[in-house]
Amino acid sequence: MIISKSTVVGRLVHRLFAVSQTKRHYLTALARSLSLTHTHRHIQAQAPGLIHLFSLLSRHKEGTDKTHCMVKMLGRSLMSVGLRVKCQQLKGIQRVTAGLNPANYGDTLRREAASTSTVMGVNKMKTMDDLGGPSFMTTLYWLFIKGYFQTTQQMQIEHSKIYGPLWKSKYGPLVVVNVASADMIEQVLRQEGKHPIRTDMPHWRNYRELRNQAHGPLTEMGAKWQRIRSILNPRMLKPKHVSSYANTINEVVSDFICKVNWLRETSGQGVMVNDLTAELYKFAFEGICSVLFETRMGCMSEVIPEKTQKFIFSVGEMFHLSQVVILFPQFLWPYLQSWKRFVAAWDHLFKVAEELVNKKIEEIQENVHLDKDVEGAYLTHLLLSEQMNITEILGSITELLLAGVDTTSNTISWSLYHLAREPEIQEQLYQEVISVCPGDKVPNSNDIAQMPYLKAIIRETLRLYPVVPGNARVTVENEIVVGNHLFPKKTLFHLCHYAVSYDENIFPNSHTFLPERWLRGGEDKSKQHPFGSVPFGFGIRACLGRRVAELEMYLLLSRLIKHYEVKPDPAGKPVKPITRTLLCPATPINLQFLDRQVKQAEPRAKLAGSP
Ligand code: HEM
Repeated sequence: MIISKSTVVGRLVHRLFAVSQTKRHYLTALARSLSLTHTHRHIQAQAPGLIHLFSLLSRHKEGTDKTHCMVKMLGRSLMSVGLRVKCQQLKGIQRVTAGLNPANYGDTLRREAASTSTVMGVNKMKTMDDLGGPSFMTTLYWLFIKGYFQTTQQMQIEHSKIYGPLWKSKYGPLVVVNVASADMIEQVLRQEGKHPIRTDMPHWRNYRELRNQAHGPLTEMGAKWQRIRSILNPRMLKPKHVSSYANTINEVVSDFICKVNWLRETSGQGVMVNDLTAELYKFAFEGICSVLFETRMGCMSEVIPEKTQKFIFSVGEMFHLSQVVILFPQFLWPYLQSWKRFVAAWDHLFKVAEELVNKKIEEIQENVHLDKDVEGAYLTHLLLSEQMNITEILGSITELLLAGVDTTSNTISWSLYHLAREPEIQEQLYQEVISVCPGDKVPNSNDIAQMPYLKAIIRETLRLYPVVPGNARVTVENEIVVGNHLFPKKTLFHLCHYAVSYDENIFPNSHTFLPERWLRGGEDKSKQHPFGSVPFGFGIRACLGRRVAELEMYLLLSRLIKHYEVKPDPAGKPVKPITRTLLCPATPINLQFLDRQVKQAEPRAKLAGSP
């Protein structure tokens, strides 16, 4: 499901102009930036690339009429993105008013700030205008001349060194307030209001309106979002429910171990697994499907079933086209080929989900008819509880699936990458796993509870490689105070989690992989700021899949390390992270998987479909 990021927009750009090799290269790089894929994508984050691409395109006067027309369309679209954001901001600008509610954390901050001003007799409260930060041109220089285009996570660190922990960046008309201190991130998140907003997603929302489909937790807003979360939360986040998915996930883990054996034998000279992340992507997809749909999709087989393959393809297609469609103004969407394909991709996702839901309904009806107990996990519960209608269930299940794939796979890839390079840490984990689960015992969720080192390894991985390196919040309910600045409603805050994860004051030796720092009673742990590393977000809008993701990662990692000794590729080079909305490995991670000497009863069977 890894599809070239630049393909769609890149082709558009290349079709528009016969450009010089250098410019073509440059435009392709830009195009790549515009076709980033992930569910947690924010339209605002695209603005710099979009506006810059437009200015480049506009400079090409020698295009055909058709070309000019397309450039115009693209330009209007970019303007519309910019204007929409600007308009939101202007509407939000308000003066501080009286009548602060002391029951609220944000109000307390504002009140404190106001009283300081009175005592001093001078208005000490600063505003957004007082913030420093790079101009639009400076940001472009950083991205495209200094080369931080694919490493914007590192740019967080560099900019915070120059401008301090709070600065504003301008992207054309869009102003983003960057926050790179644990204290101030805490202040923003604690004032996010009762219906927090990350961003709007007009194209995703438009599809749902077009097809009369329901919004899920990612796209819904306000009170409706709150209702969805209150229905979805218990079975996704309550430990007793989540632990009931362990057997299902363990079956997928068993199949992944078989797959590792098969990969080593067929393409890795008996030891190597190449491009582990791509394999883990299939694992994560299979894992989340088995929890959500209570059905296996066949991603662990050698030959993936056509329907499953198409489902996987549609997820990728939808994410790609998502980035293209958003370039154009909404009224043009119905005429765009990209929009038609985008709709078709969503149609397929919903179609497959609908088939699975219908299958489950039939199963339940049959069991009721036969007077059998109706058992089942997530989907069955949603269907039986009748809190949502079928359309709403489809909307939510599909969005959960989209959010739940590359997040876990990237994290496990980084964990294994570090364990391979740091044999002492791997050995300590191995000893912990076999002491809790000796011999043939397969770890379950109770066993995991007794593996603090395993958890510390995932925690440390997420500190060094936060899958969402920069999150966002648009404050909608109140003006808020952050540091000694007052921000109007609808300010867009970019929370620089990556920069804070490397803050030496919070995490000494911040570049070193040190799982110990997360162990209870550890010296570091007591010093840590609660907002130093918040990889799953915070508050009521935090990650809905956190518990399932953690369970998946714990069960897989413990089993893999019990089964194999993991070593680096002798010919491999260090792998660095890049940001493509999500933080992911810049180059493939290839690792050796050597059988441990201890006899295990893990499956050694051949893969279904293998010769
Ligand atoms: C390593 C694994 C994962 C990480 C690090 C992660 C991280 C995040 C983060 C940072 C957010 C934004 C939270 C905020 O704005 O405060 C988020 C939202 C979300 N995640 Fe995850 N995630 C992971 C896995 C998953 C999985 C497996 C699922 C699905 C089962 C999932 C479903 C969601 C959903 C639905 C949201 C949107 C919640 C809302 O807006 O109400 N995530 N995730």
